[in-house]
Amino acid sequence: MPNKILVTGASGYIGSHTCVELLQAGFAVVALDNLRNSSRKSIARVERICCSRVTFYEADVRDRPALDRVMREHEIDAVIHFAGLKAVGESIAKPLLYFDNNVSGTVTLLTAMAEANVKRFVFSSSATVYGDPESVPIKESARLSATNPYGRSKLMVEQILNDLMQADPNWRISILRYFNPAGAHPSGLIGEDPQGIPNNLMPFVAQVAVGRRAKLAIFGNDYPTPDGTGIRDYIHVVDLARGHVAALRRLFTQPGGFTINLGTGQGYSVLEAVRAFEAASGCAVPFDIVPRRPGDIASCYASPTEARELLGWHAEKNLEEMCADHWRWQSMNPQGY
Ligand code: NAD
Ligand code: WQD
Repeated sequence: MPNKILVTGASGYIGSHTCVELLQAGFAVVALDNLRNSSRKSIARVERICCSRVTFYEADVRDRPALDRVMREHEIDAVIHFAGLKAVGESIAKPLLYFDNNVSGTVTLLTAMAEANVKRFVFSSSATVYGDPESVPIKESARLSATNPYGRSKLMVEQILNDLMQADPNWRISILRYFNPAGAHPSGLIGEDPQGIPNNLMPFVAQVAVGRRAKLAIFGNDYPTPDGTGIRDYIHVVDLARGHVAALRRLFTQPGGFTINLGTGQGYSVLEAVRAFEAASGCAVPFDIVPRRPGDIASCYASPTEARELLGWHAEKNLEEMCADHWRWQSMNPQGY
């Protein structure tokens, strides 16, 4: 019998790609999502890519009876927890929504897991927990801080998970701090489908390239970076998904928990990313330089050493592949799912 993984937030961007990598690695997948920020169609596409079935529950992680039902109906071996809200601006406007969804939701899920004696857990954290880093590349041991409620919700859950492992060493927990996910599955069948105006660079650029939006606004060209625009560590979502499979494998073979960065270790500026997307798509991406976005930092990229040493995992795909795959998804699905 293959190990059965409950994936929360499974129909979302990173969740759907991780379902594909899990199925292809021989795991069975039970998917759960409340569809707040995604479409059920992504699960059908996952099934199409993998020629296998996924059991899907439309449910909220704050709904304890629904979680108990999933645990009763399946013998779950581990949980990967993607379900969460992730818009920084919205979190500033609606902090209670973010703490309820991201923090209370995780506590409810962990409680249901403990009750069912399921104690392997992979958590989607973020490089946002490093705040404005003192230096780059950022190691896992760097000082942590949060600059907005979204970031604080991730930091709080990290602390809760560490307390839980302290209290009960049977828990095996992997905290994964993602840098900037980009790209899509090379099939073009699944990808990022943001609702409304994209907050993040890559989906915005892709929508300009496909003609859904007129122009990109670049938030500042006066940062202390070589071309003045912000530097980030863009990581292909398929590499990121494979990082989860590697983390899970370790949880199945070794006790204890760990916290690691999932990034490439390579930073690119906004202008470099835009040029790479233009080259991959063959489309112009017109832009204006506008003032800095409040809360943005100059430069953020990972030290990927710990992930390589602990998991034997490293990112394999470069910026060109991210842009080519993102473009394939966007041009095959110009309006999303
Ligand atoms: P996404 O919005 O595409 O996926 C999240 C999914 O969770 C969505 O399908 C949404 O409907 C679902 N969801 C939200 N709240 C839920 C709830 N209470 N119950 C059930 N389902 C719920 O986002 P993503 O980019 O795939 O992000 C996945 C996770 O990774 C999130 O926790 C996010 O905070 C984290 N993360 C994302 C990024 C990024 O830039 N994309 C970076 C770092 C960390
Ligand atoms: C990248 C670069 C912008 C949009 C955010 C969250 C973080 C994490 C990932 C979840 C920056 C510039 C962007 C645009 C632009 N999410 N930019 N015009 O800011 O690194 O991180 O998403 O955990 O928590 O804060 O990513 O894609 O928004 O921005 O010029 O329309 O692109 O200023 O330099 P960021 P991003």
